[in-house]
Parts: sequence; structure tokens; C-alpha cells
Amino acid sequence: MEKNKEIVLSGIRPTGFLHLGNYYGALKNWARMQNEYECYFFIADWHSLTTHADTHGLRSLTISLVSELIAGGLDPHKCTIYAQSDIPEIPELYMYLNMLAYKGELEKTVTFKEKARSQPDNVNAGLLTYPVLQAADILIHRAHLVPVGKDQEQHIEMTRNFAERFNHRYGDVFPVPKAFSYSDDLVKILSLDGTGKMSKSEQQMNTIYLRDDDDFITKKIMKAKTDQGPASENSEKPDYIQGLFTLLSLVSTPEILAKFEYDFNHCQIRYGDMKRQLAGDMIRFIQPIREKALALENDPAQIDAILAMGAQKARKSAAETILEVRRVLGFK
Ligand code: TRP
Repeated sequence: MEKNKEIVLSGIRPTGFLHLGNYYGALKNWARMQNEYECYFFIADWHSLTTHADTHGLRSLTISLVSELIAGGLDPHKCTIYAQSDIPEIPELYMYLNMLAYKGELEKTVTFKEKARSQPDNVNAGLLTYPVLQAADILIHRAHLVPVGKDQEQHIEMTRNFAERFNHRYGDVFPVPKAFSYSDDLVKILSLDGTGKMSKSEQQMNTIYLRDDDDFITKKIMKAKTDQGPASENSEKPDYIQGLFTLLSLVSTPEILAKFEYDFNHCQIRYGDMKRQLAGDMIRFIQPIREKALALENDPAQIDAILAMGAQKARKSAAETILEVRRVLGFK
């Protein structure tokens, strides 16, 4: 298939294992985009230093993350998968962009304010300029589309501003990138207790990871919060029940979903049965991904080779951009 000419880029920090929220919120879209666009997907290991100063686990987290990305659908021959730290052109661009980023706008960033609150003893400058490094990640490949969740939209907006400022001051080098999602299939995966999004930092028991084994998946789902069922027909579902229905809609058949919807609407739902069904279908979904990820992870040489191939492709593109950047800046 002839690919669209637009360039797609996204990144993920190696700070933990992937869970269902990452899969449905990001990975599934990325896997679809790699067939349609020229895609760069990378491990944002420098970004992780802003919150995780200890680098001991970084290599193994990177290996497991790349394994999970590939097991979940990325194909290193269809897209470019690399580690940010393999691309020295990124910090050079980051430095130039830092001269175009104002302290005031950086301090107003929502993610900065949240991080400053959650780690008051480590409000480092890297945290403040996090969005500038992210802009460098995106602009180094002159990307057009950046598939990210809602929480990242402000960073993309800032990237757009930095790109426009640079172009205006020095010359047209960067396309102004856009946040992107296949809006029709944006699903929100709730944590198993229904209190917000499923996330890495949430309690383990409320998050289903792509590497959870069958028993653990069953255990987590069977423990998920429910109640005695609705008191009147066609009631609205509380969040924690809606969350379970959403999962059912993703991993079970339409007939099964319809049956439990019917039962709910007619006040005859048995949540134990529903959870047993969901657990079985979830296991069928996760098992092949988990097994592929574990097999890859046990062969780090293969992951290293994939990252080396990705770094080579990414550096070629990055080097072209940085030459152009230096040229318009007047550094020969
Ligand atoms: N900030 C992103 C996150 O926390 C990760 C990231 C770093 C990123 N650089 C990026 C995402 C560039 C998209 C594009 O999820």
C-alpha cells in the first residue's frame, strides 16, 4: 500500500509496564497508523529522568517496553522504533528551542504544575523544560501528526508555538504539527474501581497489564468493584460498572455484550457471571500478547538489533533536519 506522505511521531516514557489503557489509548492506534503513514515511535528515556532520577532499571524497562510494543502490534519493518537517547541531534535542537521558550509559559504548563506539586523536593529545570524536549522530539523529524491522549494536548500546542516562532524568526524549517486521534475509536479505559483512568501509578490491583498472567487477570477482574445491581430498569450505569462494560465491549463478542446489557437493563444482571465471562475473554486477548512480549524480552540481543536499526533510520532523518536548522541559524 502506498503510504500517506505525512510523518507521524509519538513517544512513551519507560517508567513501567504497559496496561490496557496504554494499549487502547495509544498502541492500537499506532499499529494502525504504521500502515498508513511514515511513523516514528520512540522510548522517551531522557524524559523519564525528570521524574525517575535512578537509572538502574532503565535498560530493562526499555527492553520490556519495546517487547510489549512489538507484541502489541508495532512492526519494526513498518515503522521506526528507537530510543531517544540514541539521537544526539535531539538535545541540540532542544537547546535552540530553549532560547525560544519563555519561563512564564513553561511555568503555566499543567503537567509542570502537577509534577511540581507531586515532587516538591525535585522541581528540576528538566521538569520545567519537559515540553521543550518533547517539541524537539517531534520537530527533529519534521512530523505532521502526533497521536497522543488528551493529557498531552497542551504539550503539542506548545510545540506548535515553538515551531511557529522558529519559522518566523529564522526561516521555514518545520511543519506545524497537530495532535491526532482516530476520534471514532477513542475509548476511555477506567481503572477497575471506576475512579478515573487506568494508569501506571494507580494501584496495581485496579490496572490490568499486558504481562499479567491468567490467574492474576482473573483475580483482578473478580475483585473489581460492583454492587447489588440496578434498582430500576434502564438505569444509568455507575462509572465502575460502565468500566466493566467497556472492557467487555473490547474483548467479548457483540452477542455476549448484548446479553449483559439486556440483563442490566432488566435488573437481572449477575455481576459474578459477567466478571467470569470478562476474565475468560480478557485472558484470550492478553495471552498471545504476553507470550510474544516475554519471548522477545528474553532475547535482548534481538531488541538491541531492532533499536540499532531504528536509531540508524531516525538519525538519518534527524541529521537532515539539524543541518537545515544550523543553516538557517547561520552556523554554516
Ligand atoms: N510526554 C509524553 C507522555 O508522557 C511522552 C513523550 C515524550 C512524547 N516525547 C514525546 C509523546 C513526543 C509524543 C511526542 O506521554
